[in-house]
Amino acid sequence: MTKTTISLIKADIGSSPGHVVVYEPLMEKAEELLEKAKENGLLIDFMVFNAGDDTNLLMTHEKGVNSEEIHKLAWDIFMDLGKDAREYGLYGAGQDLLTDTFSGNVKGMGPGVAEMEIEERPAEPIIVFAMDKTEPGAFNYPIFNIFANPFNTAGLVIDPKLHEGFKFNIMDIYHNKYLSLSCPEQMYDLLALVGAPGHYVIKSVFSKNEELGQAAVISTDKLSLIAGKYVGKDDPVAVVRSQSGFPAVGEVLEAFTLGHLVSGWMRGSHRGPLMPVSLEYSQNGRFDGPPRVVSLGFQLKNGKIVGPVDLFDDVSFDHVRRRANEIADYIRAHGPFEPSRLPLSEMEYTTLPEVLKKFENMFTDE
Ligand code: F6R
Ligand code: MG
Ligand code: MG
Repeated sequence: MTKTTISLIKADIGSSPGHVVVYEPLMEKAEELLEKAKENGLLIDFMVFNAGDDTNLLMTHEKGVNSEEIHKLAWDIFMDLGKDAREYGLYGAGQDLLTDTFSGNVKGMGPGVAEMEIEERPAEPIIVFAMDKTEPGAFNYPIFNIFANPFNTAGLVIDPKLHEGFKFNIMDIYHNKYLSLSCPEQMYDLLALVGAPGHYVIKSVFSKNEELGQAAVISTDKLSLIAGKYVGKDDPVAVVRSQSGFPAVGEVLEAFTLGHLVSGWMRGSHRGPLMPVSLEYSQNGRFDGPPRVVSLGFQLKNGKIVGPVDLFDDVSFDHVRRRANEIADYIRAHGPFEPSRLPLSEMEYTTLPEVLKKFENMFTDE
């Protein structure tokens, strides 16, 4: 049985105006270059889409995860787009490309990666997600709900194929360590950890049925780059398998109906509600946000992406967007006060050292 790899690799290569949205000609260029790779037989299929100011390359192939060829393809495309972005005068041109030379794998070089190699079932529904203005831990809440919460996923209770539960691999960002926990048995332990999404992030999920294998993968790349230091807002992506032993498409999407609070809004230093939006509305406006998530669903057939659907382009998410806007009003009204502003240790921008220095010798005992 041949295996198929789904690689979702993303980077912020430049946008207009400011950090609002990827400039369309960049995405057209990425499509042309990926089309060539498909003609050359490296890729089976691909799609290019944006999440706010991030360019996402969704690719299918038979090279496995961490393939040098695939990572180099993505890297070269991003470098090419970076050049164009500079010529166009886009904002933050090439900002996520941290080095000049490719060294075998894009991990640690700036782009985010979510990859999964699977044995395709006769019908293989796949859902991909891309978030903007937030951190990988923003996936903790929905991924926990999808694979462990019976109030979200009815199948965990009533479908014998899901009833055993799932295994979660989590990462301790501060110590660069990994732990596997099994649900439902270790659910409370899992929650004790991943309820702190700035410290513990869900990296992957596996079915307990070995024939089914991996269920989900989330990008955590920048986090693993500098152990011990919070490097934060990675605008993460994820790939999730669905149906026939995995949660149904509707159970997967149900987990995005809260507008849950995430970190990373405005200057990577504020909290805001995560708003599910269609690709058409994937642009940052208000206060550079609010943080948002887009989703594409498709059937995978011998690596071909069949019938992609813009899953949040759906009236049944209108009220979630409305509520997210109301939550945004409420939390914005706190201005520079926590919990709107992030705690001091998690802010991407801070003037604190300068402010403290200015008053260094002026704090008194009373
Ligand atoms: C970018 C982001 C934005 C920027 C803000 C300031 O992804 O989250 O909120 O942090 O627009 O950007 P600079 O420092 O580039 O002016
Ligand atoms: Mg940007
Ligand atoms: Mg972004």
